[in-house]
Amino acid sequence: MSTPVAEQTQTSKIAPLTSLHAWKALEAHAQQVRGLHLRRLFADDPKRGERMTAEAAGLFLDYSKNRITDETLRLLLELAQESGLKQRIEAMFSGEKINITEKRAVLHVALRAPRSESILVDGENVVPQVHEVLDKMTAFSNRVRSGEWTGHTGKPIRNVVNIGIGGSDLGPVMAYEALRHYSRRDLNFRFVSNVDGTDFAEAVHDFEPDETLFIVSSKTFTTLETMTNAHTARTWLLKGIGGHQSSVAKHFVAVSTNAEEVTKFGIDTANMFGFWDWVGGRYSMDSAIGLSTMLAIGPDNFRAMLEGFHAIDEHFRTAPFERNLPVLLGLLSIWYTDFFDAQTVAILPYEQYLKRFPAYLQQLTMESNGKHVTLSGNTVDYETGPIYWGEPGTNGQHSFYQLIHQGTRLIPCDFLAFAKALNPLGRHHDMLLANVFAQTEALAFGKTPEQVKAEGTPDWLVPHRVFEGNRPSNTILADELTPAALGKLVALYEHCVFTQGTIWQVNSFDQWGVELGKALAQKIIPELESETEPELAHDSSTNNLIRRYRKQKE
Ligand code: F6P
Repeated sequence: MSTPVAEQTQTSKIAPLTSLHAWKALEAHAQQVRGLHLRRLFADDPKRGERMTAEAAGLFLDYSKNRITDETLRLLLELAQESGLKQRIEAMFSGEKINITEKRAVLHVALRAPRSESILVDGENVVPQVHEVLDKMTAFSNRVRSGEWTGHTGKPIRNVVNIGIGGSDLGPVMAYEALRHYSRRDLNFRFVSNVDGTDFAEAVHDFEPDETLFIVSSKTFTTLETMTNAHTARTWLLKGIGGHQSSVAKHFVAVSTNAEEVTKFGIDTANMFGFWDWVGGRYSMDSAIGLSTMLAIGPDNFRAMLEGFHAIDEHFRTAPFERNLPVLLGLLSIWYTDFFDAQTVAILPYEQYLKRFPAYLQQLTMESNGKHVTLSGNTVDYETGPIYWGEPGTNGQHSFYQLIHQGTRLIPCDFLAFAKALNPLGRHHDMLLANVFAQTEALAFGKTPEQVKAEGTPDWLVPHRVFEGNRPSNTILADELTPAALGKLVALYEHCVFTQGTIWQVNSFDQWGVELGKALAQKIIPELESETEPELAHDSSTNNLIRRYRKQKE
């Protein structure tokens, strides 16, 4: 049997990462650069702050405050070439089945392709299907938003509850929060994900069932948390509406790839919005999984968001790597992860509306590149996906920034900011942006013992007040947080993840690591629920915890 093209692209043509010429050169180069201070790099090159920048589709990236020289960049770009990044990008965009462990194409880029484009999967152009679903979402959203779609008792929908988890929740929540400024304020949006009953109870506690629409969002429609919450929602609805089964059709819609399970749940497939196995959960916020987003911000804004995504897709596919924002971001994170032992990346949006953006990026980055086996099945001998985390500025400054400035760990940071405020209030925005610039300056340049002493600090206090500096950061600046800008930012990180995964030679599109816990939970559930004392065959700790819980809950 011949090896599929996608497998060949990744597994046979590319030599192991650590044997690549650029990798070896970077190892040697890192030794020389490690001692260099950003103070020196900026002093030696007065134009560095202007030179080491790149711009695409209105996103401006300043990467000058990184511990790199022109040689570092040259070698990182060589690493991208040697790793076959260009070919791999083409393989993704042309619908090759690059998700080899699940034998699937990876085509979230098709979700935002214009109608006129053609992207083939197994010989079929998928773009018309994408637009068919978008049109169906549009018609539905217009009916709900206009009040034409009514609930069982004839009242218009006032509350929308998205039930989903992982990619079927994080994208919708993040996008709703991010684009709240553009959302219909007379509609309430809530998101239920956790199987902890509190999540559902709190989400609906002040809602009237006959004004509430549930969107059950699940690619597989079998996920334990989502199906449990969906059944609870149906019970809540029926109880509140007098048990009329027919009300389910008016109050439940589904977003899924699994029509069979949707039908089994009792949702008419006429009220189902589909997507495809070539859309990964964490890459799906711009598919029908974004139905709650469209209901909130309206179809036109949703399409503007898709255009933003598409602009960065085009940039990623066509821009030379040295000016390619996702490629640069990806390479810089590899530089710190693999050559500076950095374990995390902090995402610091200076935009309150992006408060869920770090949480969203956690799944995107860590479920994608939290892998220790290469596409050829070998265990890596280098570090892969770093931990992504963060909080919106300026709040983080008053909590964990201390560690970033003066701790023992190197934490590369991405600062995100917008030139225009969506809520311009007095001097707030200038203060906010002053903090962005101040933080990146402080991190890079710090404060020397001489400077501290010159301020009259007593000698004993000097070491405590010194800032070493040399702490790297990127600054991403855009004009204003619009739906299109959000699309651009998400696509930027999606393709950054792609760049990383390609170089690390891992499959960024599967998530086998979540399976074991799911399977064990299925085994433990009946052990917790059984009327009689179950026979337990776990380890002594798990057995003991189960017995203790059974006793305590009585
Ligand atoms: O458990 C992980 C995961 O499979 C994610 O990849 C996915 O986003 C999430 O569960 C939800 O899956 P589904 O949309 O099929 O309910």
